Amino acid sequence: MIIMETLDYNLKDIIKGCYPHIENFNPAQKAVIESGYLDAKDNYIIAIPTASGKTLLGVLAAIKTLLNGGKVIYAVPLLSIQNEKLKEFKLLEEYGFTVGRHPQSSDLSVMVFESFDSITRFSWNHLREVDLLIVDEFHMIGEYSRGPTIECALTRSHMVNPGMRIVALSATLQNMEEIAGWLNARVVEHDFRPVPLHKEVLNTEMFSTRNKNDVIVKILEKALEENSQALAFVSTRRFTESLASFVADKIKNKVPPSRKKAFREVSEKILQVPEKKGSRPTSICLKLADSAKNGVAFHHAGLFSEQKEIIEDEFRSGNLLMITATPSLMYGVNLPSRSVVIRDYTRWTSQGPQKIPVFDYEQMSGRAGRPQYDDVGYSYLIAKTLDEAYDLQEYYVQGEIEPTHSKLIENKDAIYRQIIAQIASSMAKNPVELQEFFSKTFYGYQMENSPYMSTFAAESMEYEINNAVEFLMHNGILQATPEGLKTTSLGLLIAKSNYSVETAVKLKEFASNMDELDIYKLIYQICHTPDLPLISFKGRKSKDPVREKLSSAGIFAVDMQNAEATAASLMEWIDERNEYEIENAFHVYAATTRRAAYEASLMVKFFRDICQVLGIYQPLGDLDILSARFYYGVKEELIPLVLGVKRLGRKRARALFKAFGEDLRPFTEKELQKVEGIGPKLAAAVHRYAQS
Ligand SMILES: Nc1ncnc2c1ncn2[C@@H]1O[C@H](COP(=O)(O)OP(=O)(O)OP(=O)(O)O)[C@@H](O)[C@H]1O
Ligand SMILES: [Mg+2]
Repeated sequence: MIIMETLDYNLKDIIKGCYPHIENFNPAQKAVIESGYLDAKDNYIIAIPTASGKTLLGVLAAIKTLLNGGKVIYAVPLLSIQNEKLKEFKLLEEYGFTVGRHPQSSDLSVMVFESFDSITRFSWNHLREVDLLIVDEFHMIGEYSRGPTIECALTRSHMVNPGMRIVALSATLQNMEEIAGWLNARVVEHDFRPVPLHKEVLNTEMFSTRNKNDVIVKILEKALEENSQALAFVSTRRFTESLASFVADKIKNKVPPSRKKAFREVSEKILQVPEKKGSRPTSICLKLADSAKNGVAFHHAGLFSEQKEIIEDEFRSGNLLMITATPSLMYGVNLPSRSVVIRDYTRWTSQGPQKIPVFDYEQMSGRAGRPQYDDVGYSYLIAKTLDEAYDLQEYYVQGEIEPTHSKLIENKDAIYRQIIAQIASSMAKNPVELQEFFSKTFYGYQMENSPYMSTFAAESMEYEINNAVEFLMHNGILQATPEGLKTTSLGLLIAKSNYSVETAVKLKEFASNMDELDIYKLIYQICHTPDLPLISFKGRKSKDPVREKLSSAGIFAVDMQNAEATAASLMEWIDERNEYEIENAFHVYAATTRRAAYEASLMVKFFRDICQVLGIYQPLGDLDILSARFYYGVKEELIPLVLGVKRLGRKRARALFKAFGEDLRPFTEKELQKVEGIGPKLAAAVHRYAQS
């Protein structure tokens, strides 16, 4: 309790109240605190291992700022991390601080990178009130899509609010000095990991098999014996499913009956999720429930989000033995997985299979052995042969992580968006000022300081910027005025949205070329923008039903890809088909239909706004209707009812319509209650609506 006792009275109390399981700081945390972190005003990069308690360090600085009446933003890359941190930080509300998602209404706000970026573009009054910005998973700065967002947001926020302190929480990176130079930050590195992590490469030959999955079964059997849990990473959704079934089947008879009851309960909970949404369980739900019965669950983006939550929560409570996951679980999460298995170390890219970076290997391994749950962690990478195992040992276990480079210039859309943002917020009005901005980004800094690039850094940047400006002018997004470059109304619309420029340009072209609104063609078009989350085909089953659906809607496509599957599924969704029916009809991961439909509803609104700024007024009414149909998943005739009665939902709305027709005025509350699912409260609400 040495250091903890030296904290200011209030700070210590709050930490003790919120984190009763933490008795004292660990050596990595001590090193950071002893460097003067809590009293310094400097920017900081804290680069310490996975599971070493970076969050707590962020929280300490946050509380200090809050106690002084300041405001804090805690920025994270993923929605799942945002939810986890919000849950954790809500405990601070006991001490009178408000915790939420936006600085407008909270003292401490947890924001995803995109939302933080958005306040650096338009909400300068809020941004200027922020005293401390904490960037979690800061190493994402080298990632293709989120990296440019966070580096430009940081650059802009420094211009708008130069007094704001930045604390970056990061894994150890190779070129830390360079990154720190750009951020003008002090770096504290430390290699203490509170829970020792053993990394090993296993190979199938050692187990006299050729199947990597057999090795995973062995690992799980051992875990079962010592009463621990495991997490396995594979490269695709389908592999998570096949691995889970395989393993569940093999350990079925080894699971003690005493544990089966808990597994069965998890399995039932999983099946209740679709039921609550008015759908029978899809075949994926059945598969998931089936393997969960034996303590194994798969976890991927094609599940209902409630199912993912159930899996994570139940795994945390020890009611599952193993999760098989896609790499989406590799960052930041705390799970009681003493063993992590990495089965696939390649990933499909446009250039074929590529080895995953050492960095990702480290992050996946880092999910093993977390302080709250385990006192040791094991990471197993699986090779086929002994030779391959040697190679992997050298490449991953002994290997060095890759240097981190800005991806800004590789990502065209990021450049477009940043240019629009600078011009819309009047921070720049010509290419020279744009260039000034880009030279302050991490990309600009790396170019400037690279021995190879610095000689032509300025020139190549000028070239890229001029090209981008030309493209944006050509597409009616920017315009030249006597006062310099300005955004057009279309440009302003894009700047205020979170859509990519490619999406906006595609929708603009669609609007300009249409004679009359054809909603099916529009649906097809929005499914071909990069911003709509797609519903994926499940396997190699026939794609003909999708083709037939599209052609019945007057759309003739050659290639049946996920965009086509999504278009067909969304067309069924607005005709009141449920997930079970959609999955059966098209062999897709239908649990994501609702999410896709929600995004489609928003994108149709965006399209409506585009039509409006282009002066195309005639389809506006129909677009409002389409947007509502996506949102509620209903045919047009039900819209007034679902809009008029809160929480009625499409299933009950349809049942009412079926029983009584469109005009509900003549019916009493008692009569309305005869419809399944309509209790006294809803009946009253429906009645009120009908009479109004
Ligand atoms: N000093 C401490 N003593 C005991 N437990 C701690 C201490 N500090 C943090 N923890 C706990 O350790 C766990 C891991 O912490 P945290 O999630 O912050 O790790 P991290 O460094 O962010 O790891 P990652 O890089 O994987 O995101 C949490 O459950 C946290 O509450
Ligand atoms: Mg973390």
